[in-house]
Amino acid sequence: MISDFGNGQKSATKDKAQLPIPTLPKSLANIFQKTMTSAESELIAAKEDAIVENAEIIVYDMLTHLAERMNAGSAIAILSESLSEERAMADWIKTNTPDMVTQLWPEIEASISTYEEE
Ligand SMILES: [Fe+2]
Repeated sequence: MISDFGNGQKSATKDKAQLPIPTLPKSLANIFQKTMTSAESELIAAKEDAIVENAEIIVYDMLTHLAERMNAGSAIAILSESLSEERAMADWIKTNTPDMVTQLWPEIEASISTYEEE
């Protein structure tokens, strides 16, 4: 998301967006949160980050095309910059997913075998 458009700042924000998907009521979400391992929470957070970054790519791409139609030169430059930043973030997540899974795997594997013993 672009912050302070037109006020000199041209970088994407680090703000967390709320996913436009159904969410659990807070009390129920808290219960799930407590029963989740930290590896599970990390995987879910990484997945949601990837969804948000890729959604932002689509939005900035669309806005860039609209700005081009409107001959809005300065907006095109800012939107293009944000688009490449979002692409870099989405690529970073994708590139680092195998390492993240490798790192979290021992904890995931341990929680799987706990379920199998029950
Ligand atoms: Fe982003």
